Amino acid sequence: MPRYQQIARQIRQAIGDGELAADSRLPSSRTMALELGVARATVENAYGELVSQGWLERRGQAGTFVSPSASPTASGANIASSQPQGAPMPFQMGLPALDAFPRALWARLTGRRLRLQTRYDLLMPEANGESTLRQAIADYLRFSRSIDCQPEQIFITAGFQAAMRLVVGTLAKAGDGIWLEDPGYRYVRPVFADAGMALHPVPVDGEGMQIDYGLEHYPEARFALLTPAHQSPLGVALSLTRRHQLLEWASARQSWIIEDDYDSEFRYHGKPLPPVKSLDGPERVIYAGTFSKSLFPALRTAWLVVPQRQVAAFARQSRHLPCTVPILIQQTIADFLREGHFWRHLKKMRQCYGERRVWLEAALAEQGFDVVPQAGGIQLVMRVQGDDRAMVAKGRAAGLAVQALSDWRMTPAGEGGIVMSFTNVTSHEMARRYALKLRQAIT
Ligand SMILES: Cc1ncc(COP(=O)(O)O)c(C=O)c1O
Repeated sequence: MPRYQQIARQIRQAIGDGELAADSRLPSSRTMALELGVARATVENAYGELVSQGWLERRGQAGTFVSPSASPTASGANIASSQPQGAPMPFQMGLPALDAFPRALWARLTGRRLRLQTRYDLLMPEANGESTLRQAIADYLRFSRSIDCQPEQIFITAGFQAAMRLVVGTLAKAGDGIWLEDPGYRYVRPVFADAGMALHPVPVDGEGMQIDYGLEHYPEARFALLTPAHQSPLGVALSLTRRHQLLEWASARQSWIIEDDYDSEFRYHGKPLPPVKSLDGPERVIYAGTFSKSLFPALRTAWLVVPQRQVAAFARQSRHLPCTVPILIQQTIADFLREGHFWRHLKKMRQCYGERRVWLEAALAEQGFDVVPQAGGIQLVMRVQGDDRAMVAKGRAAGLAVQALSDWRMTPAGEGGIVMSFTNVTSHEMARRYALKLRQAIT
């Protein structure tokens, strides 16, 4: 297919997918040509074809626009059917790059495992997870996170919430206080609230959770839940001083630190700080990891590393809340780790996300947005003046899955912001389209 037709097809697809809304302006043919590394005439040809087909219209000096009649709903079955069912919206958070996962390799490993299974694999699985996977995770943590643990300290769970339920069921009682980052990961709060625990918001600044604040206001809390590697959603790292301060508090009070290390694999510059768990002389840290970001969320597979002295209590509790991840999935993940695919995949993804992040940061900056610099993670935050919820509502109405920082807060005070993911922004050109669309929606 000639290059100009390929470009025309991509634009048609973007309109069909709702990425390019009716009346949005396309970049000038010169800009687009520079972006794509093609001659300007090639882009002119593509635009010309789409104008003649009624997808685009030229509005003199103002530029070339998507026709008002070319929205995904108005343009008929052809375009509507080009929108894959179940596809995530642009900027949707919490997802890895769906296009970059080695699905063929995964299918091969799964098939091989299935053929190798014996009749004994039909039995009830171990409540704390497959031993092969627990061993593989222990090996991975030792090399990648300097966490020294034995497989029996690891409990596989069906996602992070199930991991938190296991922690609460084993160690907490109604009325226990828990420090939570404010703003922070909101989807887990119901687990603690349902258990009758007292949820204590602790503010976050450039060094992560303000431990001093927690010490001053809620010294008697029995738990602290944090995302030390990249605070969710602000992306800052908990400073080393605060890591030690936190450990001192937990040790003196016999409280528990829950370290949510959900996306530490993705850091783009600077040296990562040691996980709190790796500094845990007093054995007060419960470490939580997940494969939702490093592999994919449909696996529903996360894990805990619990202190050696707590293994028996967690094992008892896990009989009431057994791991529900299917054996085949657990075995396949174990093979993926043990055979070195995981390392290769992470290396590839670090590079991929480094690139995608830069594309989106640059595109947002071009639109005058104020992106907060971050050392790692798989989401971006922009500072905004004014009502971030109202802005986000407009962005969402335009089909963009942005989120308001205010919705991540437990207390109403604090700066407004817009939070989004860049993992599925697959080109600089797409980043510019989305950023433009967001700007147009908000302004
Ligand atoms: C801060 C944080 N912790 C944990 C998780 C992992 O959740 P799960 O393992 O249930 O997918 C996520 C996923 O979005 C997250 O953002």
